[in-house]
Amino acid sequence: MKKSEVFKGLDGRNAPECFAALRTPCYVIDEERLKDNGRILASVAENTGCRILLAQKAFSNYDFYPALATYLAGTEASGLYEARLGAEEMPGKEVHVFCAAYRADEFDELLKYADHIVFNSVRQLKQFGKTAKESGKSVGLRINPECSTQEGHAIYDPCAPGSRLGVTREIWNREMTDDLICLLDGLHFHTLCEQDADALAATLEAVEQGFGDVLPRMKWLNMGGGHHITREDYDRPLLEKLIRRTQDRWNLQVYLEPGEAVALNAGYLVTTVLDATENGGIRTAVLDVSAACHMPDVIEMPYTPPLLNGEADGNPENPYRLAGPTCLAGDVIGEYSLDRDPVPGDRLVFGDMAIYTTCKNNTFNGMPLPDIYSMDREGRFGKLTDFGYADFKGRLGKRKA
Ligand SMILES: Cc1ncc(COP(=O)(O)O)c(C=O)c1O
Repeated sequence: MKKSEVFKGLDGRNAPECFAALRTPCYVIDEERLKDNGRILASVAENTGCRILLAQKAFSNYDFYPALATYLAGTEASGLYEARLGAEEMPGKEVHVFCAAYRADEFDELLKYADHIVFNSVRQLKQFGKTAKESGKSVGLRINPECSTQEGHAIYDPCAPGSRLGVTREIWNREMTDDLICLLDGLHFHTLCEQDADALAATLEAVEQGFGDVLPRMKWLNMGGGHHITREDYDRPLLEKLIRRTQDRWNLQVYLEPGEAVALNAGYLVTTVLDATENGGIRTAVLDVSAACHMPDVIEMPYTPPLLNGEADGNPENPYRLAGPTCLAGDVIGEYSLDRDPVPGDRLVFGDMAIYTTCKNNTFNGMPLPDIYSMDREGRFGKLTDFGYADFKGRLGKRKA
């Protein structure tokens, strides 16, 4: 992704200066960028009649749900807590849940929050489907179209061989009965990760080949997430064509549930340089932000996040390794070419930090959780959290008065 696209929300502002009053590390969520994404998603929904949900696993900073509710049909949850959050914080909108396995002791409560419940296996459909249906829920089953459209990313590929996610046609043939099919209102698939509409086209072909006989009986088809719809070069005309064609051909309602696309490039992680070290010619700036704690996807994906004050990888003119303050040797954010030699006290700003960050961070090594700020159109900040020692200690044992 182009750096200009990542930091577009700062609009030429001198970011280190405008963030100077904020205590670091902190996340800053850019309301205008969120709304820009929302407008794009709303236009896809309007042009096609599809319905678009926020996958809360990627972004669940609910202070922004009222703004997002203008553009979206509702939320998608991975289980009880996210379902409750969606129901509470985006009231009146749809709540869809997909979980790889539901728990019997939570199911009744889940029914209070969810409108659509998607099962991952025939056994779970058998166990809970009738109860869900009798409670007036729309019931779905996740299918596995066995169509991998990404390479070298098995951890993010639900169609990787042996995947537990979704029912393959072979299992469907073996285990589905007409009674079970009668419980179904829709099918769900999620197979993509940060991909363009051509990957969806290939997946849809596989879905139609594998499950084309079932689709006429369905009221909806949920195409999951992983659609990078709000990226500048994403092929939206093709996406819209595919949605329209699917809805017309099978006479059903299409749902999409992107996470990344909703909050793409709508957040910054502001950090301060604490120290600089050198070993064998490698110069490292140690920051007050940790890859392992505050941007875990940097290690999990892995990827090198974009930096406002320098270039990631590429042709390093002033090479520095940026790293976290934890004990983990591999707590490395990446190799960068910096605009100038970093000294303690310097501010650095990472981009695209609204997604899979605030909802995924942790306090390993006793690292504080970075506070979360909103930033409005005029560049004014609002503090949304007040994290401290209690948030670290409270997760680990009995609270003492
Ligand atoms: C079932 C499901 N839906 C939606 C999403 C959101 O995907 P993304 O944030 O890549 O759009 C995911 C991500 O893992 C998912 O597993």
